[in-house]
Amino acid sequence: MHFIVEGGVPLRGSVSAQGAKNSAVHLMAATLLTADPVILENVPVIQDVFSMITLLREVGAEVSFDTARHRIIITSRKELKPEVSNPVAANLRASLSLAGPLLARAKQARIIFPGGCNIGARPVNYHLKGFQALGAEARLEDGYILVQGKRLAGRRIYLDYPSVGATVNLVCAATLAKGETILENVAEEPEIADLCNMLRKMGAKIRGAGTKMIQVRGVRQLHGTSHRVIPDRIEGGTYLVAAAITRGEIILKDTVPAHLEPLLVKLQEAGAQLETNKNKVHLRVLHRPKPVDIKTMPYPGFPTDLQNQMLILLCLAEGISLISETVFENRLLITSELRKMGADIQLHGGGAVIHGVESLHPAQVTAPNLRGGASLVLAALAACGLCEVDGVEHLDRGYEDMEGKLARLGARIRRIE
Ligand code: EPZ
Repeated sequence: MHFIVEGGVPLRGSVSAQGAKNSAVHLMAATLLTADPVILENVPVIQDVFSMITLLREVGAEVSFDTARHRIIITSRKELKPEVSNPVAANLRASLSLAGPLLARAKQARIIFPGGCNIGARPVNYHLKGFQALGAEARLEDGYILVQGKRLAGRRIYLDYPSVGATVNLVCAATLAKGETILENVAEEPEIADLCNMLRKMGAKIRGAGTKMIQVRGVRQLHGTSHRVIPDRIEGGTYLVAAAITRGEIILKDTVPAHLEPLLVKLQEAGAQLETNKNKVHLRVLHRPKPVDIKTMPYPGFPTDLQNQMLILLCLAEGISLISETVFENRLLITSELRKMGADIQLHGGGAVIHGVESLHPAQVTAPNLRGGASLVLAALAACGLCEVDGVEHLDRGYEDMEGKLARLGARIRRIE
């Protein structure tokens, strides 16, 4: 499956951000912490959500997804079968987030080792170490993650790295552990605060969400709730960069500008005119972008998930830019594809030196992964002429109706099955 894109058209108009993929998948896993129904609103209609539904049903949850209303209802009333071996899990990093809730609720979990994209090794040592600290047995065996523990006991845990997934797993496990758990050096991503907000509505006792330290006082059980997923800062940010690359003007609606701060600062440095209000960002770019330097970091640093998108903009900048990718070791895979389009990128260790060029020319390119694929579409939007972007199934994992949203902004793009 591929896209045919005729680039060179400035994007204009308004576009709404979808619900956050990297919140929705963790919220869906966390619903296993209660036997009551949990309703999630603003759930994006994307492949990773369907994959998560498959895994929830495998462990015994009842799941209904009203895609027209972006609403999911999950009830794991029955005895859970804490085994996840559906091959879908092997390609979904978020399947790891089932471990904490299953351990807390069913006292054990056996999950096929999740991969996700090819952006790096994606080890799980912080997850295993955290579960062990809570008194569980946790290990890797024959390509599975095994955790088990009759009674989890809260304690102080320091994360060697503010891992998003490990923070999700340990917060979930701690909600039903005995006593108090203090998690230090945790991830501060907005998706963590979103998870903690839902858990609190389910009766969990959590303080410090969105800060470096989260305190959880264990309770006996959690109850159902309904919760609206926060806007997707990565999907929304992707459209802002698309508008900047094509020197257009867009309004990104239904977003949280504060969550986009690291990106907005860099777009402004590159010469974008920006105005924000409560839930909108208005962006306009009239000239060739200026070069800027980017270093990816855990939130509130510049997000690694928007690094490839900014790489495209810098390929067209009036000067030399530097990118330093510190989160994943293999997140510049699209460099070879961009060189086919005339980009001038030198790779150095975990970073890149980009000499901006006047324009990119069309080529046939292949998406290596989710965010790299989205970024190649952005490159095609900037190239004057017809581009073919293969591997669109990667995009469908995390972008709801990408070609529809871009077409409504004036892009000439169509999907060829
Ligand atoms: C989440 O992945 C996101 N995925 C990623 O988005 C995002 O890039 C990443 O956080 C960082 O923000 C979901 O939320 C489903 P980490 P996660 O644990 O939890 C290393 C996308 O495109 N690490 O914070 O896997 C790891 O290898 C995806 O939407 C260990 O070494 O990220 C990486 O170098 C891509 N041991 C760094 O930490 C561990 O036990 C950050 O990983 C865990 C992680």
